[in-house]
Amino acid sequence: MKSLLSFGCGNMAQAIIEGMYKEKSPLKYVLYTPSDTKAIKLSEAVDGEHLGSLDTIPRCDFYMLSCKPQQLSELAQKIKGKLNPDAVIISILAGTTTEVIKKELSVSKVLRVMPNTPSLVGAGVNAFFFSGEVSKDERDFLVETFERFSKVFSFEKESEIDVITGFSGSGPAYIFEFSRILIEKMISMGIEREVATEMIKWTFYGSSKLQLESLDTSEELRNKVTSKKGVTYEALEVFKNSNFEKIVDTALDAAYNRSVELSK
Ligand SMILES: NC(=O)c1ccc[n+]([C@@H]2O[C@H](COP(=O)([O-])OP(=O)(O)OC[C@H]3O[C@@H](n4cnc5c(N)ncnc54)[C@H](OP(=O)(O)O)[C@@H]3O)[C@@H](O)[C@H]2O)c1
Repeated sequence: MKSLLSFGCGNMAQAIIEGMYKEKSPLKYVLYTPSDTKAIKLSEAVDGEHLGSLDTIPRCDFYMLSCKPQQLSELAQKIKGKLNPDAVIISILAGTTTEVIKKELSVSKVLRVMPNTPSLVGAGVNAFFFSGEVSKDERDFLVETFERFSKVFSFEKESEIDVITGFSGSGPAYIFEFSRILIEKMISMGIEREVATEMIKWTFYGSSKLQLESLDTSEELRNKVTSKKGVTYEALEVFKNSNFEKIVDTALDAAYNRSVELSK
């Protein structure tokens, strides 16, 4: 059976590794965190091993970098030269290129993943970019492993990861912000907080489910809710006249520019 060692066991690593474990991926897990607590907890949850020190690093097939991007250099100093040179490094570090990882760790095979937080409930989107050195068999294994618990989209150019970061990576935050605005407005109009919150959560859930199951485009689905001069029409006209599309477009450009800046 293949093995995966994760350096860092925060929210995102936990979602990914628990997803793999629940979907019975043929992997053995080794978990490390500087403070031990989260690694011990996750190792118990996934029938894995806890690594207490970085003095000796077990030979694994995959090493996952799951700390914060700014913690990479500190980690690299402790593990450089101790990793199995044939292993694939799986990096979930936002804005950190495969070239930086190769240089920091003196490795060649890297899979850069941009995950998103719905991975926590088994509905994540993972964007993949493989460095040229990763073999077809390794790619197939990793795609199959992540597809067991999420949707995987592979990209040929690393620059495309900078593009998608502001969409699938940040996207959940846009949805939560829009959801917050709707909930607060409902409350201001006299609906109880609990009722407003549940109704909006279900409205988003139901709309996503409908969109996934329908063959209609987003525009067609929108039009099916909108009759001329009706209630929805009035609201959408305000969006149009207030240049909502332009605001969103500017926000997405800002996200993209920051993503490119972080990758430098
Ligand atoms: N959250 C998102 O929406 C999202 C989306 C896309 C990508 N990401 C990426 O996912 C990564 C992890 O994010 P997260 O939200 O899961 O972070 P998190 O919850 O803060 O977890 C970070 C983990 O890294 C460990 N760590 C700290 N310093 C370390 C070191 N020097 N060596 C090894 N491990 C170390 C921490 O250990 P302790 O438990 O001991 O503190 C902790 O377990 C980030 O690089 C982020 O860019 C996150």
